[in-house]
Amino acid sequence: MSETMNLTLHVWRQKNPSDKGKMETYEAQGISDHMSFLEMLDVVNEGLIKKEIDPITFDHDCREGICGTCSQMISGVPHGPDDLITACQLHMRKFKDGDHIYIEPWRAKAFPVIRDVMVDRTAFDRIIQTYGYTSTHTGGVPDGNAIPVSKGKADMSMDAAACIGCGACVAACPNASAMLFVAAKVSHLGVLPQGEVEAARRVKAMVEQMDKEGFGNCTNHYECEAACPKGIKRTFISRMNRELQKASLPCDL
Ligand code: SF4
Ligand code: FES
Repeated sequence: MSETMNLTLHVWRQKNPSDKGKMETYEAQGISDHMSFLEMLDVVNEGLIKKEIDPITFDHDCREGICGTCSQMISGVPHGPDDLITACQLHMRKFKDGDHIYIEPWRAKAFPVIRDVMVDRTAFDRIIQTYGYTSTHTGGVPDGNAIPVSKGKADMSMDAAACIGCGACVAACPNASAMLFVAAKVSHLGVLPQGEVEAARRVKAMVEQMDKEGFGNCTNHYECEAACPKGIKRTFISRMNRELQKASLPCDL
């Protein structure tokens, strides 16, 4: 049976990237514990529209944990108080009647606020554009199992490929580092035979772009791993650092 609750929301409101922005308080009444967090925001927005107040702008698309767009800080935690899920998968049963919930955008120089809780994450797209692909000419579609891939490498690549580019790792890191994201992309492609050929060029290009975008460095806080909804392990960062060192050696060594 569904329970209902009344909540107080403290929401970051910012009209545009140059607006200073501030927290505003809204009441969310009669919220079912069966609702998702984003459905709760939809209900609050309907109420705001009726009162002729601008609805809260937040990003979302798939609402099933796949696209990575529903980025928001919920009471100081990226994606809210549950493990290994995105904000769209968070259920209101995680909260209780009378709770105060603080809703804010990702805070990072490389992710400027567009409006309210929505940030511009195109810095990630530009990193992917630099070398987040393989350009080897493989001809037609090969037969299945024609290129042997060891189980260990296949598993590692699949684990890294789980990254949905949400940016929670950046939001959680005190240095706003994007190393977990970049490391996942570098490993996802670099350990497979098709992508291994360009691994050195790829890691150099992607790390260079990451630095250009203004993301910070990793200083081993491991907050990225704790915040990641897809369980990407920090060991991918060590792997990327090793790959980068190897790629930076003179060729004749
Ligand atoms: S590493 Fe995790 S937290 Fe970072 S962008 Fe990928 S899925 Fe999101
Ligand atoms: S809306 Fe797609 S992951 Fe949340």
